[in-house]
Amino acid sequence: MHTQRLSAADIAPAAEILRRGGLLGIPTETVYGLGANGLNSEAVAHIFEAKGRPQDNPLILHIPSADWLERYCEDIPEAAYTLARRFWPGPLTMILKHKSIVPAAVTAGLDTVGMRCPAHPVCRAIIAAADLPVAAPSGNTSGRPSPTNMADMLEDMDGKIDGIVDGGPCVVGVESTIIDLTEQPPRLLRPGGITLEQLESVLGEVAVDPAVTRLMGAGEQPRAPGMKYRHYAPKAPVTVVQGAPEAAARYIQTHLAPGDGVICFDEYAPLFEGHLMEQLGPSTDIPEQARRVFDALRWFDGTDVQRIWAQCPDAAGLGLAVSNRLSKAAGFHIIRAEKFC
Ligand code: TXA
Ligand code: MG
Repeated sequence: MHTQRLSAADIAPAAEILRRGGLLGIPTETVYGLGANGLNSEAVAHIFEAKGRPQDNPLILHIPSADWLERYCEDIPEAAYTLARRFWPGPLTMILKHKSIVPAAVTAGLDTVGMRCPAHPVCRAIIAAADLPVAAPSGNTSGRPSPTNMADMLEDMDGKIDGIVDGGPCVVGVESTIIDLTEQPPRLLRPGGITLEQLESVLGEVAVDPAVTRLMGAGEQPRAPGMKYRHYAPKAPVTVVQGAPEAAARYIQTHLAPGDGVICFDEYAPLFEGHLMEQLGPSTDIPEQARRVFDALRWFDGTDVQRIWAQCPDAAGLGLAVSNRLSKAAGFHIIRAEKFC
């Protein structure tokens, strides 16, 4: 299949690909998505094929505004509208009970569906022109880091999708926050662009699913099916070193072997000269770290590093999402460096 390259101005041809049941690479503010008509089971099945995605991992629906929630969802709590007023359009996905119009191909047979109203203007224009709910997982091959620019998505999807729209690099860089509103207190299933603290400021108490911060044991079932799979992982094994940035950098410097690579904060780059290295941005600039984290992980797949050591921000604010993605890439192989100061 030839994958058509479209520009941000090609809204009509992009929408046409969705309307005729094709697969479209779509820029969003979080990561690039692999979109299809969310009401067309056959088109949705092609998403799973292109990604090599396990069938039991449901997709989320992208809609142009909160007004569309009632078309696809029922028993919608007031909190959903409050969150929508505050954070939509934006990087927040809400899990709600779905109506029967939503195909099982999207929900993997669950009685709930993830709903998101994205903020990227090109994405919004395409959804509006297609006049459809767009089912879209991240545009990577299953298991690989999510793509945050068109080139990264083409690396995985060139020849497998009908078209891709270049909307520039993603401004958030990690996927949307997922909040399950079907239970009380609401439960954070995946940290992302909207922080836990922001959600708590609206919802009061928020439960954090254990899959956010640790490896699920055998027999344990995370609420977001996707959280149980190996994710975001480069070919080389990753070790995350948490703790004060200086202590973590010194720990890595001490344990680094020839042939190892490093993901580090900008300030510590001089310590790792001579090693393959990706910089995450300044240790204090977490939005920049979020923008760079997937690209950094992806980059090492083009190298022959034996092992990757990664510095990691604290779990406060957007740091929870960055730390979650790095920890998942490491299979939760995490070391705390406080003692090495
Ligand atoms: O930022 C994002 O959310 C991106 C962009 C493209 O919008 N999309 C994205 O989709 O990250 P995906 O499929 O890569 O991740 C969605 C996650 C998966 O872990 C999936 O298991 C979970 O959401 N999920 C989907 N529907 C669910 C449901 N009904 N209940 C619980 N988890 C659900
Ligand atoms: Mg994904």
